[in-house]
Amino acid sequence: MPGALFLCLLVSSVIAAEKDSALPRLNNTKDVEAFIDSAEVVVIGFLEGEESYGYKELVEAVKQVSSVPAAICLVKEVWAEYNLSSDAITLFRKADNHQENIDLSEAKNLKADGIVNFISVNEIRYITEYNQVTAVGLFNSEVKTHLLLLANRGSKDFVELKERLGALAPEYTGKFLFVLLNGALKSNLKPLEYFGLKPKDLPRVGIYDGKSDTKWLLPEGEISTERVREFCESFLRGELKGMKEAEEKPKTEL
Ligand SMILES: *[C@@H]1O[C@H](CO)[C@@H](O)[C@H](O)[C@H]1NC(C)=O
Ligand SMILES: *[C@@H]1O[C@H](CO)[C@@H](O)[C@H](O)[C@H]1NC(C)=O
Repeated sequence: MPGALFLCLLVSSVIAAEKDSALPRLNNTKDVEAFIDSAEVVVIGFLEGEESYGYKELVEAVKQVSSVPAAICLVKEVWAEYNLSSDAITLFRKADNHQENIDLSEAKNLKADGIVNFISVNEIRYITEYNQVTAVGLFNSEVKTHLLLLANRGSKDFVELKERLGALAPEYTGKFLFVLLNGALKSNLKPLEYFGLKPKDLPRVGIYDGKSDTKWLLPEGEISTERVREFCESFLRGELKGMKEAEEKPKTEL
């Protein structure tokens, strides 16, 4: 009976869709650790139950930020492992081994949009594209040194360079945040200018150290993993200090 079969398939796909909208449950510390390890950025709701404040809002938010996997943990004994004493929505990321919490006992009027914003700001990856939203998360990180890939989206080696440096980034967890600055965006002309560059000069690689507010450019040439690694190592050994900084516009005498 093709009709009955069709109905049957329809019903099962509706059930599947409903199931998909429920967040996976993590039942112990091992589950939580495995989930955190499964992606560069994840979000976990540590909640009393599915009726709790924050659950509906989290489910709604997660639908809008599909790039970040989310789950819930309703087992209170596990919370202490993450220094949580009350309900929280927590983001874990690998790029700087960071945990960022929304304490639900303090965030009284949290809506899905607020959670979406929290995720977008804190979605720092092994290589993060710089924009007004990620800038907040980048500058809030304890890691104050940025390895910058300055490249024009749409140029022929853009994707390859992004992947190459993204693959190098895990070696420098806690030391550098790798940041992609798309030179093809008008809004990025200012930061490019800070390095003394124009879009036609790209791709280039630079380091920005927020602690000393100092910047360096890797000399022109092939942007290979080896050269960028050596650039990072030179910085960490303190050997870049004597190197000429990226040209600044000569200051006019006042
Ligand atoms: C946690 O337990 C629930 C219900 O017992 C189960 O459906 C779920 O798959 C478990 N989660 C994990 C990650 O094993
Ligand atoms: C929890 O807090 C303690 C003391 O403040 C700290 O040593 C520990 O690293 C924290 N654990 C996590 C997972 O943040």
